[in-house]
Amino acid sequence: MYQVIARKYRPQSFDDVLNQDHIKTTLRNAIAQNRIAHGYIFSGQRGTGKTTTARIVALCLNCEKGPTDKPCGVCASCVEIAAGGAVDVIEIDAASNRGINEMRELRENVRYQPARDRYKIFIIDEAHQITNEAFNALLKTIEEPPEWAVFILCTTESHKIPATIASRCQHFSFRSVDFHDLIDRMREICTQEGVETDDETLAVLAQAGEGSVRDSLSALDQAIACCGNKLDAAQVRALLGAFGIDAMAQVTTALSANDGSALLALVDELERNGGSPQHFSRELSRYVRNLLVTKISGEQSRLVTASPAEKKEMARIAAAFSEEDLTRYLQFSLDLFRDLQFSMQPRFHLEIGLLKMLQAGRLQPIEEALANLSGEPRAVAPAREAAPSVSAPRPMAVPAPAAAPASFAPPAPRPSALQRPAAAQPLYAGPPSPDDDWREKLQSAMIKAGLQFSADAMSQASAALVNNELLITAPKQFQLDLGREEILAALKQIGHPTLRFKVAFGEVKPAASPAASAASPAAKSSPKTPAGDETAERALGHPEVQRFRELFGGEVRNVRNLKES
Ligand SMILES: Nc1ncnc2c1ncn2[C@@H]1O[C@H](COP(=O)(O)OP(=O)(O)OP(=O)(O)O)[C@@H](O)[C@H]1O
Ligand SMILES: [Mg+2]
Ligand SMILES: [Zn+2]
Repeated sequence: MYQVIARKYRPQSFDDVLNQDHIKTTLRNAIAQNRIAHGYIFSGQRGTGKTTTARIVALCLNCEKGPTDKPCGVCASCVEIAAGGAVDVIEIDAASNRGINEMRELRENVRYQPARDRYKIFIIDEAHQITNEAFNALLKTIEEPPEWAVFILCTTESHKIPATIASRCQHFSFRSVDFHDLIDRMREICTQEGVETDDETLAVLAQAGEGSVRDSLSALDQAIACCGNKLDAAQVRALLGAFGIDAMAQVTTALSANDGSALLALVDELERNGGSPQHFSRELSRYVRNLLVTKISGEQSRLVTASPAEKKEMARIAAAFSEEDLTRYLQFSLDLFRDLQFSMQPRFHLEIGLLKMLQAGRLQPIEEALANLSGEPRAVAPAREAAPSVSAPRPMAVPAPAAAPASFAPPAPRPSALQRPAAAQPLYAGPPSPDDDWREKLQSAMIKAGLQFSADAMSQASAALVNNELLITAPKQFQLDLGREEILAALKQIGHPTLRFKVAFGEVKPAASPAASAASPAAKSSPKTPAGDETAERALGHPEVQRFRELFGGEVRNVRNLKES
């Protein structure tokens, strides 16, 4: 009968167990010195050798030539234990025997001497599944067992083992197996099986297991079943639904080219090929994580599990991004992965997730932005006008204070370069223009747009640009004619579709209109700045502060004189 590779090549001695050196050494010494504990906890990731090691301990203790750390493998005990049929080695699957009755039975069983061998060894797999009261039933037995009993609790979730039990056992944690050692082991197995393969294919298989030897060996089984005696990386990838670096690089290429439609096409292709968005997003997180690690620790980092050719390619790709960019992309891809777990519309979620990464764009480093502050005042504007590049600072949409009457902010400009021409308009077009200029501009734009009533209303209103924001004040009776839509339409007509604006209705006093205060920059006081205070006025009038606000937008809530406090 065919036996799967993982079982066929299950290690029969400590030497065959990959990694886990700290555990092997301790157990060997304990056996050699005859200092066997009665309770052990083997914890760690699935498929890393817990059950295997427990069986090897059983072999060592019960071999006719033992106890020895090198079981003979040929005596009756060794043969039976290896085949899983020894009466004195009792394997219990706690996933299905987790209740109090099973543990009571076990407690009874422990009391009887071994039938033939030296020790009675209880290997309890998935021990974390045992219920609390069942654990309590075991407590006394584990604390004071008869001299012949040894308990080995295997678990992937050691934190679920009650402290009362854990404190009576020796605890060993199994680590996930090293990528390169695993590849070497699989190469050996392939040679013995007469299967031809190469480094890249083995890397794909090793990655598929994510540190679990059993999972990688199962993948190898599957690959041999599919491809026969000659394994081919591309075929194996397709079989396992793994994505090669080329597939993943399409995402980063689209991100660096700011190409949203390429990202959408990618999702479409995935869907048509029957790929799973969840799986894709998981692979994407892993890929971005690898890029980030490569960026931080270099191409040769052992933290990245990939073949040398893949590592080289990743180093090349990572060079095109900053560490901050990659960190943010990783966060986005992890969020996406999380969201997809609960999504009813995985395709749409994937599309949104990828587009969000794109829209996050690349941030301008804060140092660069601050460096602009100390330049000539005009140096700020050209940077904005060169906006089609993603690295140009994005104007921030600052929500208007809630208390302000009828205040609207148009939607934040899309950062995508595809849409940049509109957003490229400088928000702050030089010094504030005189009142009439803006009013007339808006009025004629409204006429052009066929908004006759609004145009009439505008002729009674005042309009001025204060701190990057257009303040429109109109008599109350025009409330219906100067709504958000009308003003947006007019701004679009004159080429300022993203300009923030605010409309206030009330009395219009030409002398005290916002324009008057806006006319002298030193006395700039709008509803958004703490007015009336001389310190505040001086601070806000400072050219450096003004440029900072032009660059970053936002609202100054409070000005404090540090010398006084
Ligand atoms: N450290 C290792 N060295 C060599 N082979 C291993 C190792 N770990 C696991 N294997 C292989 O994987 C198979 C499963 O291992 P094992 O049953 O010991 O895993 P486990 O840690 O008990 O996993 P689980 O938590 O899923 O029960 C073994 O038959 C063996 O072929
Ligand atoms: Mg196991
Ligand atoms: Zn033996």
